[in-house]
Amino acid sequence: MDGSTPADLDVVLKRFTFEGSDATQEPLTVSIPEVLEPQYGMYVWPSAVVLAQYVWTHRGELVDKTLLELGAGVSLPGVVAARCGSRVVLSDSARLPLCLENCRRSCAANGLQGVRVLGLTWGQISPDLVLLPALDVILGSDVFYEPEDFEDVIVTVSFLLKKNPKAEFWTTYQERSADWSIEALLHKWKLQCVRVPLVSFNANSPQLAGSTLPGRHSVQMLIVSLKTEPPDGSSRAAVGP
Ligand SMILES: C[S@@+](CC[C@H](N)C(=O)[O-])C[C@H]1O[C@@H](n2cnc3c(N)ncnc32)[C@H](O)[C@@H]1O
Repeated sequence: MDGSTPADLDVVLKRFTFEGSDATQEPLTVSIPEVLEPQYGMYVWPSAVVLAQYVWTHRGELVDKTLLELGAGVSLPGVVAARCGSRVVLSDSARLPLCLENCRRSCAANGLQGVRVLGLTWGQISPDLVLLPALDVILGSDVFYEPEDFEDVIVTVSFLLKKNPKAEFWTTYQERSADWSIEALLHKWKLQCVRVPLVSFNANSPQLAGSTLPGRHSVQMLIVSLKTEPPDGSSRAAVGP
């Protein structure tokens, strides 16, 4: 995909409503402008709805926390976090200004003014990456979709987790091939992960946030963190796409 900007963008607003767990809690509706272009980063992927649901379920812990979204595209998870009171930085490839424009358009559609948008290309230790504020959570939905990019994503995540040792990388991905795995890369970059069952945050439903997007796809969620050695020295099994 190139980074050129078409003269006339065909944009449609898609609405997602996240329900409270009981009738006393207010639902949250966000509007995400999607661009009718057959390119990554132009519309909401099924993994984004699942990660946004995880953010929504954990919103109580995210108030005043600082979150960075990688490969954000139209930024549904980051927008939900910002609407729930997190300080959010959205990012996409520095080589794809159209995707960065999508991040900005999603903020504008939801009245979000304090959200920074940065060009962060996976695998590149750029000044913008180095100068990020302290982070609590890194988000990435459907960033493991091209095996040749897996290590670049992991390099960026590893850099950020080493700078922010208590932070976690919350990531969702679509199962596209049984052969793909990040297990060896996690080991190489001294990271570990746990799989989060979708049922644990009510995301195991074909309909989520009023959308049927996840229904037709198998989406998984992982939490990646810096590797900690257990006291007995035995290693923890890593799982991954
Ligand atoms: C499959 S889309 C997912 C978009 C969004 N996170 C979602 O789930 O709806 C992958 C995203 O990664 C971004 N991306 C691709 N290569 C990248 C790179 N080398 N560095 C940073 N972002 C990249 C794309 O621009 C796109 O927004």
